[in-house]
Amino acid sequence: MKKILLWVGTGLLAAACCRTEPVPGRWKNEAPGVWTTVVGRPEGYDLLSSTDTKPRREALNGKSAQDFPLDMSRIEMAVRDGKTFLTFPLTPDEQIYGLGLQFKSVGRRGQIMRLHMDHYGSQDNGRTHALVPFFVSSEGYGVLINSARYVDLWVGTGVRTDSPNPPVAQDRNTDPAWNPQPYSDNLEVLVPAEGVELVLFSGEDMLDVVSRFNLWCGGGFIPPKWGLGFWQRTPTRYTDSMVRAEVEAFVENGFPLDVVGLEPGWHSAAYPCTFEWDSTRFPDPAGFADEMQRRGVKLNLWCNPYIAPRAKLYDSLAPYAGTHTVWCGIVPDYTLREPREVFKRHIDREQLALGVGGYKVDEVDGFDCWLWPDVAEFPSGVTGEQMRSTYGNLVMAAVDEAYRARNLRTYGLVRAANAGAVRYPYVIYSDNYSHREFVTGVVNSGFNGVLWTPEVRASGSGEEWVRRMQTTCFSPLAQLNAWADGTKPWSFPEVYEACREVALLRMQFLPYLYSTFAQYYREGVPPFRAMNLVAGFDGRVKREKGTLDGTENPYEMATIREITDQYMMGNDLLVAPLFAGETERKVVFPQGDWYDFYTGERVGNGNEVVVRGTLGRIPLFVRDGAVIPMIPAVRTTAEWVAGQPLELRVYGKAAGSFDLYDDDGTTYDFEQGKYTIRRFTASPEGRYSVEELASGGGWSYGPEQWRKMGE
Ligand code: GAL
Repeated sequence: MKKILLWVGTGLLAAACCRTEPVPGRWKNEAPGVWTTVVGRPEGYDLLSSTDTKPRREALNGKSAQDFPLDMSRIEMAVRDGKTFLTFPLTPDEQIYGLGLQFKSVGRRGQIMRLHMDHYGSQDNGRTHALVPFFVSSEGYGVLINSARYVDLWVGTGVRTDSPNPPVAQDRNTDPAWNPQPYSDNLEVLVPAEGVELVLFSGEDMLDVVSRFNLWCGGGFIPPKWGLGFWQRTPTRYTDSMVRAEVEAFVENGFPLDVVGLEPGWHSAAYPCTFEWDSTRFPDPAGFADEMQRRGVKLNLWCNPYIAPRAKLYDSLAPYAGTHTVWCGIVPDYTLREPREVFKRHIDREQLALGVGGYKVDEVDGFDCWLWPDVAEFPSGVTGEQMRSTYGNLVMAAVDEAYRARNLRTYGLVRAANAGAVRYPYVIYSDNYSHREFVTGVVNSGFNGVLWTPEVRASGSGEEWVRRMQTTCFSPLAQLNAWADGTKPWSFPEVYEACREVALLRMQFLPYLYSTFAQYYREGVPPFRAMNLVAGFDGRVKREKGTLDGTENPYEMATIREITDQYMMGNDLLVAPLFAGETERKVVFPQGDWYDFYTGERVGNGNEVVVRGTLGRIPLFVRDGAVIPMIPAVRTTAEWVAGQPLELRVYGKAAGSFDLYDDDGTTYDFEQGKYTIRRFTASPEGRYSVEELASGGGWSYGPEQWRKMGE
């Protein structure tokens, strides 16, 4: 007899022969457009509870009311064999996005994935730096499977015998239209646990669905202003005087610099780490950090969180460590309060008190051979697999708590995050180094409640160097990571001016960028996002019949075409990076008029346009009616202070406005209403007006000047 416990809609169909768990199957409306349900007996430890994530209910309450977006009777949930099985219906044209940070493709329909925290391994198969079991559908809904296990998903691949809309079998012998992947009308999920919590989101459109997901997961956040300037990571084993010389070289070259990242070498031991300054390279850490502060430079410290036997922290953390080590360093169980407090007290005393701006939390993703195996045990009872899924979050949480206790914002880097990390001010990076994949990473980050930096490291040519530099300057964290190569922005002198120009252009965009992050925090809207999240954009995956090749394509799999190389920064700016070897590229515009950022000329409307580029400029486009606030090209954010002249660039013919946000730039006082928002509106007739929407304090701008572009 088959073991079956099947929950169909509100009815329970059960044939008992195995341990079954009742499934309530009732969706509880938690907030506008948000429902939760529980299947079976969920585990006590999941992505959201691991770091005590609380939904941003006040922000969610500002969203529109929504009806339950799906036919409940077509969602199936069952617990069998100690595992949870879920089925969601798919309509023929439905597109699915999200499911972790992937780097090659955007649409997920037709893919099979096992979400597993790991270093990306060049395949979109679920091994990911961002384990986010959340998908958003073009039908206007999304689902979070709140499990810290390795979740399997078949996204429109399984064909069920009970399908109301089954495909018809075709004969490969005779039918030239034979399809190797028959139509599937469902998305199926297997959670290797006896139950799970599901959160379902509905919204006005996909962007609104993603925004509600972000708010439910406690995000977004506003980084400190300095975090949006330029970051340079120095080579491993650099000393204080080498860093000093590096900072001086940036001044001499007139290149923006806000953050210096120290790589392995600042700890007295690395791999595993001590979280103590190395006294030979940094004999006077306080004096050094103070000097950097005075020069307007924040420090970001690389670490992996595995504690070296020789560390002062070791003895107090050892009783709380897991059964396995990483590079012979212990892995503290930070789900427990005591070790978390010990760690927080230590970093607060040794680094935060000196004015350090944050950390780069390395090696929390994998690769498999570095991290503990899944058989590892931890004192709290959290399993090796669950700990792997959440360790990055646990470290971010501890660091975040330490900064919050000082009422200071941090901005850092991490190599592993998940749905519980939306609120943490971190950006994901990786050792991967494909420029195209880096851009697709930016595209996909916005579906997943995470941010991604396409950092620059090395380059085969000046042309590639400047193209990479342009992309990183239009990303959440503009960084040159010279840890291995010792590269500088001027490493390719033939393109230095172009590099400097784009870095300074980023600085001019600071008001726009900061307000875009404020929108992330206030409304959950992802600051960097796929074109698919823009109304009027045709992002459907196009499949062309595959060609038979006995070696490369024995099943005649379809060729997939989709837009993976352009994205939005905020509401109004379309970024279409050029890659080495290209002098022109195709840009696909959403409906509505779009304008060239630099000239204000109309370029496209709901169509594909081949745009020509120059070496010195990244192609940027602006939507009709956009008002883009800009400041003069400052070299550091320390110059972005009261009285800054403000230019408002106006594009196109439609009416439009921009809500310019400002606050003190470093503390959490904005959570208590200490911020200012002014709405700058341009009418089609060329009338300009300003309205104060919030006046809690903090305003860096002087008198504004309007500039109609294209005239
Ligand atoms: C890698 C990391 C690099 C660099 C290096 C230092 O794991 O991805 O960015 O920090 O460690 O050893």
